[in-house]
Amino acid sequence: MKKIAILGAAGQIAKLAEEMLLKDSNNELVLFLRHPNKLDKDTIDDQREKIVVGDASNYNQLYDALSGAGIVYANLAGSNIEDQAKTVVKAMDNRGIKRLIWISSLGIYDEVPGKFGQWNKNILGSYLTTYRAAADVISDSDLDYTIIRPAWLTNKDEIDYEETIGAKTAFKGTEVSRKSVAKHVVDLIENPNGEIRENIGLNKPNTDADKPAWY
Ligand SMILES: NC(=O)c1ccc[n+]([C@@H]2O[C@H](COP(=O)([O-])OP(=O)(O)OC[C@H]3O[C@@H](n4cnc5c(N)ncnc54)[C@H](OP(=O)(O)O)[C@@H]3O)[C@@H](O)[C@H]2O)c1
Repeated sequence: MKKIAILGAAGQIAKLAEEMLLKDSNNELVLFLRHPNKLDKDTIDDQREKIVVGDASNYNQLYDALSGAGIVYANLAGSNIEDQAKTVVKAMDNRGIKRLIWISSLGIYDEVPGKFGQWNKNILGSYLTTYRAAADVISDSDLDYTIIRPAWLTNKDEIDYEETIGAKTAFKGTEVSRKSVAKHVVDLIENPNGEIRENIGLNKPNTDADKPAWY
């Protein structure tokens, strides 16, 4: 049995991952988040889940929350995500935890080719710079990280994805379901030696286009 700390635990991908982890494993989960009212109380398993209220940019709150955790899965967001990344690295280092799964975004390495790449840059603008700075904090650390860069996220009830491995590898496709990303996170938690210090893109196969289908 492992203890997994999930940061941003009421995030949309995180909630799907939590459901899978409760169903398919016997891991204990630490749900670290700012707004516990955003959790679905009916789905919480009090025996295996502990809710810890805190902000990922607050070192003391995060350090306390990581007590006993073997793996950290960060499903964070926001314009201060670089500060959050620095806090996560520092708290993990000081707790002696090595394994981190970090959700980022397509496009942070200018790795999305063609018209879609340009469209993505135009729409996402400074978000990409901010998310890149956070990813650099993670990849410059000595943690056993996996950075996941999902394509544009959908809420489709499907698990259907492929990977592009490496920050410099041309990104494929335009979209991927949150459920697919959650499944990949859960697979990494279950096989924590996979994709160590890797940076991977996730997309739904055969969705190459100039922009996501719903735009
Ligand atoms: N939308 C897309 O198409 C797309 C594509 C690729 C990547 N992404 C990125 O993928 C990530 C995960 O996606 P998602 O759909 O699961 O996002 P989400 O639902 O917005 O989840 C992000 C979570 O981060 C939490 N958070 C933000 N700042 C925090 C802090 N300082 N301390 C603790 N928690 C904090 C938020 O909680 P609060 O309720 O407290 O704000 C929220 O629950 C996001 O970073 C998103 O930008 C999105």
